[in-house]
Amino acid sequence: MSDTYLTLVNTGLTKKLAGRLGLPRPVPLLRHQPGQPLVAGPVLVLGSESSADDAKAVAAALGGWAVDVRRDVVPGETYAAVVLVLTEIAHPDELSAPVLAVGGMLRSLARHGRIVTLSRPATPDDAPAVAAARQAVDGMLRSLAKELRGGSTANGVVLASEVGAQAPSVLGALRFFLSTRSAFVDGQLLMVDSEAGTLPADWDAPLTGRVAVVTGAARGIGAAIADLLALDGAKVVVVDVPAAGEALAGVANRVRGTAVQLDITAPDAGERILEHTVGRHGRLDIVVHNAGILRDRLLANMTQERWDAVLAVNIAAQLRINEQLLTSGEFTQAPRIVSIASTSGIAGNRGQTNYGASKGGVIGMVRATAPLLTAYGGTANAVAPGFIETDMTAKIPFAPRELARRASSLSQGGLPIDVAEAVAFLASPAAGGIVGRVLRVCGQNLVGA
Ligand SMILES: NC(=O)c1ccc[n+]([C@@H]2O[C@H](COP(=O)([O-])OP(=O)(O)OC[C@H]3O[C@@H](n4cnc5c(N)ncnc54)[C@H](O)[C@@H]3O)[C@@H](O)[C@H]2O)c1
Repeated sequence: MSDTYLTLVNTGLTKKLAGRLGLPRPVPLLRHQPGQPLVAGPVLVLGSESSADDAKAVAAALGGWAVDVRRDVVPGETYAAVVLVLTEIAHPDELSAPVLAVGGMLRSLARHGRIVTLSRPATPDDAPAVAAARQAVDGMLRSLAKELRGGSTANGVVLASEVGAQAPSVLGALRFFLSTRSAFVDGQLLMVDSEAGTLPADWDAPLTGRVAVVTGAARGIGAAIADLLALDGAKVVVVDVPAAGEALAGVANRVRGTAVQLDITAPDAGERILEHTVGRHGRLDIVVHNAGILRDRLLANMTQERWDAVLAVNIAAQLRINEQLLTSGEFTQAPRIVSIASTSGIAGNRGQTNYGASKGGVIGMVRATAPLLTAYGGTANAVAPGFIETDMTAKIPFAPRELARRASSLSQGGLPIDVAEAVAFLASPAAGGIVGRVLRVCGQNLVGA
């Protein structure tokens, strides 16, 4: 599904006309290309005085990745990104100097620029002023993300109390947010829970040696995830219903992987996935629960069949498969579960009580599954897409589809690759310290939470 409006307001005469009429002009986002540098210009590292040590550590890590780092604004210079380090703030008063410094350089932020904060979560154990300062970062960042233009984004990495600024998942998340891999992630704060995880030897092939399964991979987001995990070095097993067998075989061939024709609601789906994957590829490391369906109706018109079908595919199947994997003894080498949720499971969506329940269920499931995997160095996390251009969303009637597409800070829908990038990051060794979390890929959807 293509976005005709986005094309029209960015080409030729219609671009001029849109400008004259003052129509919103979403900017085509830059996506990752293999071999691309991490950032296309200098990166400014700023911070509160109290966070100077962490700012220094972050600047050193960036320097180690051949990034051109600046610690002060140089007049006339344009920046690809700003990293704002606020990890040790203890009072909201400490925010004014560093935040206003960012305000002062915003006109020097390049198109497709990035702002990334590093902060800590507010907890009930904090002194009130500390909690206020920490929570203030959240509100400031989400508001700033709504002010940026030109395909730029603002996101935050939130470090749990014992986590240092150079922990693998802090650096992994920082890289993800700075790069074009996070083109459609905006206004999000991602928590790093622990120092677990490892930095890959090769950032372009972080999944080398790993074996991944992707469900619902015959088309759409699942096919994009399979493509990207393979590009990132994994051996990929693709799963979909027998009716999608031909398309599934096409994806399997493309990624040089293997296919399993399987309805994931089958009682032995997990066992069959394991048997195939371990039998053919010797191990199973990553499971991406992507298969999902919609059967929208207002609750007043909801039938038992529609409710049950959505819950069965979108959540009950995942629960059963996970249980079979976890009790098999074969899913123990830094395993990763990444489930596709939806912003409908967070903010809700009219006509989607069944879908919202199933996707809310996914979020609850990963939160409770993650602790069962930590003993093996494993994680479970969810990615919650907003509006993504696929066959699924092409079926939405024109008016609500156009509304859903534009109602985000980036004024456009995402592409399957945007979801795939977030999944690939959470499946990577560097994300080992991110445990039971939800990463939204929604362009900062303006509807709901
Ligand atoms: N497209 C969006 O905007 C969007 C937004 C939020 C969340 N999501 C979620 O992303 C995931 C992928 O969505 P999509 O837009 O690519 O959908 P899609 O309909 O294009 O693809 C879904 C795939 O899942 C497969 N599938 C369905 N039921 C299955 C079953 N029982 N067993 C095995 N495979 C099954 C389908 O055959 C299909 O190939 C879904 O979980 C969806 O809920 C999508």
